Amino acid sequence: MSRSIISGMGFYVPDNIVTNQDLEKLMETNDEWITERTGIKERRWVIPGEDSTSGMGFKAAKMAIENAGISKDEIDFIIFATLSPDYYFPGPGVTIQEALDLPPIGALDIRNQCSGFVYGLSIADQYIRTGMYKNILVIGSELHSGGLDKTTRGRGVSVIFGDGAGAAVVCATEDENRGILSTHLHAEGKHAKELALLSPATSRWVDTIMKEHDPSDISYYPHMNGNFVFKHAVTRFPEVIMEALQQNGYTPQDIDMLIPHQANLRISQFVQRTMKLNDDQVYNNIQRYGNTTAASIPIALTEALNEGKIKKGDLVCLAAFGSGFTWASALIRW
Ligand code: UT7
Repeated sequence: MSRSIISGMGFYVPDNIVTNQDLEKLMETNDEWITERTGIKERRWVIPGEDSTSGMGFKAAKMAIENAGISKDEIDFIIFATLSPDYYFPGPGVTIQEALDLPPIGALDIRNQCSGFVYGLSIADQYIRTGMYKNILVIGSELHSGGLDKTTRGRGVSVIFGDGAGAAVVCATEDENRGILSTHLHAEGKHAKELALLSPATSRWVDTIMKEHDPSDISYYPHMNGNFVFKHAVTRFPEVIMEALQQNGYTPQDIDMLIPHQANLRISQFVQRTMKLNDDQVYNNIQRYGNTTAASIPIALTEALNEGKIKKGDLVCLAAFGSGFTWASALIRW
């Protein structure tokens, strides 16, 4: 049976840097609060109209294909993870297929928020193990900035999120010493509304919202019960990392690099302390990009690779937690 390896990674973030000081001009917030509570110093926000979720995903995908050293025409399946699609439907997977000028291969859109990339990787791994596909493009891309409440009312959410995209080319290999060892996926729908965007929806279409025209209606902005999400995140991250390690007979000390979803630097540091990991076993870049949801892991993984922090043969763990709640991990022998 074939194994899956990540043979190329890529990422793209918009040029427009928005610092904490820039946010102070939009809402009542300050650099000290944001830095202390989240670790974020700046994020990238698309200049309105200048890019899209699929547009950023396309640029990340091109880099990943180039780094994989294959031709785009060898891609035989696309998986696109996002919570901020260009349109309500169709999903951005088909836009990527068209933008890359590919033959009519399959394109799957998945909606698993912060866990989206790891869920996508897991799907790709299963298709490759069964022999159905050989080279799968997995993309995580988010354009949050257009949908945030950038007033003081929305500051608990809007200072955290950034725009960007990351992509991986997942390929079949017969090398038994490398590849995705296992993936672990979880969900707990009873907490769905603790981190959610409720409108527009099939239960509440735009015309209803327009008719009501209620400026105090915040259901069309993302809502997050921050403390509640935080408490679950710091439990679920170590749990799902340990699940991956135990299944493969490893301990936290065996990890060469942990790439946690970049939700909040305090969450990553808590996980690091709980698992007794050294600084050089964990990669964080939320300071520069904020929380880019489905894009955060592939962006961080690409940067860690570019900085030479992951070598062939390393044990790499990816772990995510977010809206749903959903959480997931993947253990990879690089
Ligand atoms: O990626 C998906 C998963 N997401 C996460 O894992 C996020 C998890 N949660 C968090 O990261 C944190 O809960 C937040 C960063 C969102 C918030 O940090 P917190 O320490 O939980 O703060 P808080 O919500 O309890 O708010 C504390 C205070 C409040 O004021 P009072 O009521 O104490 O007077 C807020 O109104 O801070 C106020 N506040 C702000 N002040 C300045 C909230 N947002 C801001 C802000 N600037 N941006």
